[in-house]
Amino acid sequence: MTQPDHRGRTRVRREVVSFVRRSARMNPQQSKAWNAHHDRWVLDVPRAETDTSIDPTYTVDLAEAFGRSAPLIVEIGPGMGDSLVPMARAHSDFNVLAFEVFQPAVARILGRLASEAVQNVRVVQADAVEGLTTLVPQSSVDRLWMFFPDPWHKLRHHKRRLLSPEFADLAASRMKPGGLWQLATDWADYATQMRAVLDNHELFSNCHADGWAPRWEGRPVTRFEQRGIEAGRRIFDLSYRRR
Ligand SMILES: C[S@@+](CC[C@H](N)C(=O)[O-])C[C@H]1O[C@@H](n2cnc3c(N)ncnc32)[C@H](O)[C@@H]1O
Repeated sequence: MTQPDHRGRTRVRREVVSFVRRSARMNPQQSKAWNAHHDRWVLDVPRAETDTSIDPTYTVDLAEAFGRSAPLIVEIGPGMGDSLVPMARAHSDFNVLAFEVFQPAVARILGRLASEAVQNVRVVQADAVEGLTTLVPQSSVDRLWMFFPDPWHKLRHHKRRLLSPEFADLAASRMKPGGLWQLATDWADYATQMRAVLDNHELFSNCHADGWAPRWEGRPVTRFEQRGIEAGRRIFDLSYRRR
């Protein structure tokens, strides 16, 4: 939303978002990967106010964007693609749509997709909240992946955490009944928050009687997970079925 500031200049009013608006300058290697592979794997979107927004009137035909109809996986915040690229390769029967705000990270993903010749991924450089809202049809997602979302561990920053009741409502609306939402975090209090939101959500049921999922073997250890392990933190996996 735009509104005039006290000097009468128009500025963008920022909502609370789950990411830091950092300088997104790419290094030469990332620029090279972006230029070489952008057309093949990036799904370009028209922007609204910011460079991670999506024009809310935009529509896309995902089957056309992927070049085929297939069950849909959405990954939120894949970072450098440490898990996205090998997991997409292991799920070649699925179309994998990834939302990542940080352009240098997207460039790293593109380099890996190209070198490993992974065809079934499209990356949108945008806020996943806007991406799910605008690009993803209702009841269309078979699997939702969200691994090591930014923990915002200071109490005053908890409002920036992506997983909230509102976000769970959005996810539920986009997932197919029977779809699977898999999450992981190395921050115990965020894991507890995820449980509190999702265990109490009428449209999700926890797949595991004791609450936590066993570590999913198919999920490669990313640098964020490794950092948590080295710091002595427990890794929490969670798995929910959309009712
Ligand atoms: C801590 S990193 C984890 C990356 C990756 N999942 C892994 O395990 O290596 C979190 C990532 O989520 C991205 N992110 C945070 N909020 C996001 C949002 N609303 N939409 C898209 N990406 C987001 C950040 O830019 C960052 O790359």
